[in-house]
Amino acid sequence: MGESVNGARARLDLERIEPSLTTYVIGRFDRRLFDETDSTSTRVAEIAAAGAPEGVLVLARKQMAGRGRQGRTWVSPIDSGIYMSVLLRPQLTLNDLPLISLMTGVACAEAIERVCNIQIGLKWVNDLVVSGRKVGGILVEMSGSAQAVATMAHAPVLPPAVVVGIGLNLNFQEASLPEELRPRVEWLDRLCGKSVDANLLVAEVCNCLESHYSDLRHGLKEVVVERWKTRSVTLGREVRVELGQQLIRGTAVDIGSSGALRVLQEDGTEVTLYGGEVSLRLDDGSYA
Ligand code: BTN
Repeated sequence: MGESVNGARARLDLERIEPSLTTYVIGRFDRRLFDETDSTSTRVAEIAAAGAPEGVLVLARKQMAGRGRQGRTWVSPIDSGIYMSVLLRPQLTLNDLPLISLMTGVACAEAIERVCNIQIGLKWVNDLVVSGRKVGGILVEMSGSAQAVATMAHAPVLPPAVVVGIGLNLNFQEASLPEELRPRVEWLDRLCGKSVDANLLVAEVCNCLESHYSDLRHGLKEVVVERWKTRSVTLGREVRVELGQQLIRGTAVDIGSSGALRVLQEDGTEVTLYGGEVSLRLDDGSYA
């Protein structure tokens, strides 16, 4: 029998995540669940600042000040989505940081496919999409510095903290969304035709994240990029890139080994993008 929106399966519960978790690090030693908090990424940044090792997992049933990219708000009603943040301490250069977004995107897509059996597309650099609608987003933030951590008394020298924030839409009520967002947003319950098991999904995101992160740590950057490319809805498409006040138009031609997007402009010159907002321009006007 079908379950109601916001049914028991959507409610996060640490004890129900544990049995499906196969990780050694992510969410293994320190996982916390808040009924409500401002932002799970803020909580993880605080824990990181106290010198925590990587793997910390923070979840919330509701976020009061969920953050999206470029200063946007991530609407986070209670039990309507997965709001989770993970602490990583990768040994990467700043230029390689987009790889963390790409790797997380691949991991989330894989996890959703395992749990919901639906194909997820990836829009550079961090959007999870189905049929041109966004089902989730990733916010990767640097937190603190190696210097700051190294100067703490008795603390071992730790690589800088990277907070990986993941938001997945489970069961929004369309009417509660601003009108302009409605044609651009999708949620997993609707796609699956049933209430998704939120605890299983969190566990699978952690499992997949750990596996792909391990590849990245072992230097398999190209493998991570190739996995992203096979799910890309960006490459080969006409894109419009907003970088502050600057607008770039062209075709997304490739992803570099550091995860940067190469765009061939109409005048034949190429630009390499490490971040920023890419909005795809399609014939039907859809979002991705
Ligand atoms: C995007 O703009 O697409 C990224 C959205 C990321 C939202 C998640 S929800 C959990 C974590 N906490 C936050 O405040 N933001 C991220």
